[in-house]
Amino acid sequence: MDSEGLQFHAVLSQAATRVEDALERLLPGEDAMLSAPMRHAVLSGGKRMRGFLALESAALFRVPPAQSIRTAAAVECLHAYSLVHDDLPSMDDDDMRRGKPTVHVKWDEATAVLVGDALQTLAFEILSAPQGGIDPRIQVRLIHRLAEAAGAFGMVAGQAFDVAAEKTDASLNLDEVSMLQSLKTGELIVWAVESGAILARQDPGPLRGYATDLGLAFQVADDILDVEGDADAVGKKLRKDEAAGKATFVSLMGIAGARQKARDLVDSACSHLAPYGSSAENLRLAARFAIKRTS
Ligand code: IPE
Ligand code: IPE
Ligand code: MG
Ligand code: MG
Ligand code: MG
Repeated sequence: MDSEGLQFHAVLSQAATRVEDALERLLPGEDAMLSAPMRHAVLSGGKRMRGFLALESAALFRVPPAQSIRTAAAVECLHAYSLVHDDLPSMDDDDMRRGKPTVHVKWDEATAVLVGDALQTLAFEILSAPQGGIDPRIQVRLIHRLAEAAGAFGMVAGQAFDVAAEKTDASLNLDEVSMLQSLKTGELIVWAVESGAILARQDPGPLRGYATDLGLAFQVADDILDVEGDADAVGKKLRKDEAAGKATFVSLMGIAGARQKARDLVDSACSHLAPYGSSAENLRLAARFAIKRTS
């Protein structure tokens, strides 16, 4: 790994530790029915990229860490829910996630459905809990935007398009794949990145441009990893997209084309950060890491 990669790993792992400590406190304790599978889904592994982005975007505007740690924990709960459901037999039917058996394999399918439900509501509970020092109108704005990003016109729409696309013979074109990927992966990343601006009552505009490009680049990298990655490093089953007949940037442009597309997206993502100068350096590193990652 080059020195920039090492630098990014250091900041990412620092953020991951903070987010995991917060999740440890915020997840239901042992007395809750679904405590063990919920903790398995959220706490066993994961890069914490979305949590990191929430913390970094807040730091850009000097938001108190006690506020941004909650947005970071919330987005990781919502993301973990999306993965538990994504892996279900009726969706991608995956038995490994983050190097461990998926929830429906370790427990059963009903448990996985309920764990997803509980993690989704926990995200909103974390954001809506009364907190000193934060205007409730800001909490409502964060919650409203997360509901939009995750719901029927956001992540869930992307997942629905993905499932539908697998079932038809007609293949998607680049614009359609782009739209699908922006919804299924991009929307949540956009929320994480804009959350700091919302907390600080600043215009999230320039950050949204960065996050939209980053989200797409991140999913292009996921599609490349599916073809070229090492399953042990990635912690999930690979070589599945082609077998499932999925339309991805790789299936449409080939590996080299997808790689170029990802690089262009990262350049474009970074260009949106110009107004923030050197304070946005970690966000630039994150964008470059998104396409160099091996897991
Ligand atoms: C995997 O996301 C699913 C996608 C939306 C590409 P990540 O690659 O961020 O997964 P974790 O959180 O690190 O496990
Ligand atoms: C998952 O996309 C996106 C969401 C969970 C919203 P993929 O199906 O490509 O993710 P992996 O490859 O299983 O992590
Ligand atoms: Mg999927
Ligand atoms: Mg999947
Ligand atoms: Mg994938």
